[in-house]
Amino acid sequence: MCETIEKKKVLSCIQPSGMLTLGNYLGALKNWKMMQEEFDCTFAVADLHAITVRQEPAKLRSQIYSTYALMLALGLNPEKSTLFIQSHVPEHSQLSWLLSCNTQFGEMSRMTQFKDKSAKHADNVNVGLFSYPVLMAADILLYKPDFVPVGADQKQHLEIARDIAERFNRLYGDVFTIPEPYIPKTGARVMSLQDPEKKMSKSDDNTNAWVAILDDRDTIIRKFKRAVTDSGSGVIMSDEKQGISNLITIYSAVTGKSVSETEKEFDGKGYGDFKLAVGEVVADELAPIREKYNELITDKSLLEKYFREGADKAEKVARKTYFKAMKKVGFVI
Ligand code: TRP
Repeated sequence: MCETIEKKKVLSCIQPSGMLTLGNYLGALKNWKMMQEEFDCTFAVADLHAITVRQEPAKLRSQIYSTYALMLALGLNPEKSTLFIQSHVPEHSQLSWLLSCNTQFGEMSRMTQFKDKSAKHADNVNVGLFSYPVLMAADILLYKPDFVPVGADQKQHLEIARDIAERFNRLYGDVFTIPEPYIPKTGARVMSLQDPEKKMSKSDDNTNAWVAILDDRDTIIRKFKRAVTDSGSGVIMSDEKQGISNLITIYSAVTGKSVSETEKEFDGKGYGDFKLAVGEVVADELAPIREKYNELITDKSLLEKYFREGADKAEKVARKTYFKAMKKVGFVI
């Protein structure tokens, strides 16, 4: 059989923070789906990470379900990949303790996300917020992935996971694989539709600034029609035309056409035509995901079947790595 060549392993997680946007989709999730064909993939809903900021229990619960349902709706296949919920595999928290005791206060203090988030939530600078990257290191290292796809904002956390792994291996012997960041060929950085200098974010008060993966067709097209552009003309990628450049990025990420193909396609066309075209391709791309999601979210027992099976599969791998680490440190197991 030709299946003897082992596939490289990939791991990534996503927080259950409610509405996912077109930015999340084009920047990360669309790539997860493509990676599933080439790699042995493990994807999780990072629910433990979510409570580093205050959450309302009922809302958190529903967001965990909806994020998991969305992973399936995107086309991630539980037969091919391991799809689970982080808190269902206790080894994440357990390994996190071992790693915490091998991580320095100084290293964690340098994390820019901690600095940003503690400024933003000054009334709740909890210890979990501080040690968040250690839990993330545990998420990663338990599964020995070769690659971890992460956005720019998580790169520093991946680097610290590598440092922690290297240090642990040096002190106790070889346990962890040192993961590489995975920079997708087509990963797009999607900017706000209202202020193209800012990243598209669901926390933007102006809902016209972002498109949710689950927005309906009319809403999507309306938001693109209202997208802010300069007063010039010409569908051309350029630093002076950030609004149009953002729309070109989106169009080419969705259709797979290159920037120059896109520029050629819309040569001589006005901004209005182009905005409508972008809205339409985005709406077409997201429609089947929304339909599948709507089906799945009402079928809690099916979701549960998948996430229990996913957790079983994940835990088999996680337990092995965790016990090896425990043993190396000197615990009686
Ligand atoms: N911290 C990541 C984020 O907020 C989510 C995450 C948790 C993650 N554990 C991970 C990403 C492990 C990659 C690998 O986006």
